[in-house]
Amino acid sequence: MSRKRFQDKVILIPGSTSGVGKASAIAFAKEGGKVVVSGRREDRGQQVIDKIKSFSGEATFIKADMASRDDIKKLTDETIRIYGRIDVAFNNFGKHDEAIALIADYDEECFDAHMDISMKSMWLCMKHQIKAMLKQEKGDYAILNSSSISGVGGGWPFISVYSIAKSGVDSMSKSAAQEYAQKGIRVNSLGGGFFDTEMIHIYFEELAQFYGITKKQLDEQINSSIPLGRLATPQEVANTVLFLCSSEASYITGASIVIDGGMSSKYL
Ligand SMILES: NC(=O)c1ccc[n+]([C@@H]2O[C@H](COP(=O)([O-])OP(=O)(O)OC[C@H]3O[C@@H](n4cnc5c(N)ncnc54)[C@H](OP(=O)(O)O)[C@@H]3O)[C@@H](O)[C@H]2O)c1
Repeated sequence: MSRKRFQDKVILIPGSTSGVGKASAIAFAKEGGKVVVSGRREDRGQQVIDKIKSFSGEATFIKADMASRDDIKKLTDETIRIYGRIDVAFNNFGKHDEAIALIADYDEECFDAHMDISMKSMWLCMKHQIKAMLKQEKGDYAILNSSSISGVGGGWPFISVYSIAKSGVDSMSKSAAQEYAQKGIRVNSLGGGFFDTEMIHIYFEELAQFYGITKKQLDEQINSSIPLGRLATPQEVANTVLFLCSSEASYITGASIVIDGGMSSKYL
């Protein structure tokens, strides 16, 4: 029987109670990984654990709020306490609410909250994860950070706080990739287009209201702007996540991998 891609590897996923993080947690566990599922919602985290246990996979839920410095450190510490190591970290959380406004209309608290959670907490996660990986024997460790095409190739209108924070995620991933390449740690970021998750439909509702059109009209406009004509399924994104975090991607580091159905191919 062939060895599974993540057999005996420990996978930490801050932001895996729903959407892409959930699909990735399940996929990692199916490939033999020991998965730490994390987020603020315990009930949703437990559903992911139940699903993984249903096929005899290995997973633990650790409740953690990425707005809390203590929780961020505790998440790495607890992972090490339970499983003894970290082989892969997929930092998938992001702040999406209160993102839609003109740049002159955001208030300072809103701007700070986006930078704090989507950008600074991502750095703090990486900081603790890298320190943990450096204490382990040299290997092929992988960190993947969730970015967005809105942050990869330029500023997007009407969601600039989100896009600015994601640009920071991209930049810090590239810096870390260069600094730790010789230590056996690969760092990449995932520049998502539109994924079919709960979050995106809440966001589309808000955006439709902002433009004064219906959600159906917005959905049609969005789909027609995507060469593949549809949103990505969480499973399609998880497939890419697993590849980038596997040894099959051993020569990929410092890359912003775009997964957007061709949407940005005109300008990136
Ligand atoms: N969906 C898209 O179209 C799209 C496009 C480009 C990029 N992305 C990025 O892809 C990532 C995943 O998005 P998704 O669509 O899968 O969204 P989602 O279903 O809303 O998932 C977001 C995850 O992050 C967690 N999270 C959010 N804030 C957190 C906090 N303060 N502390 C701890 N966990 C937190 C959520 O868990 P709790 O709520 O339980 O805390 C959830 O597990 C995000 O970084 C997003 O920006 C998404």
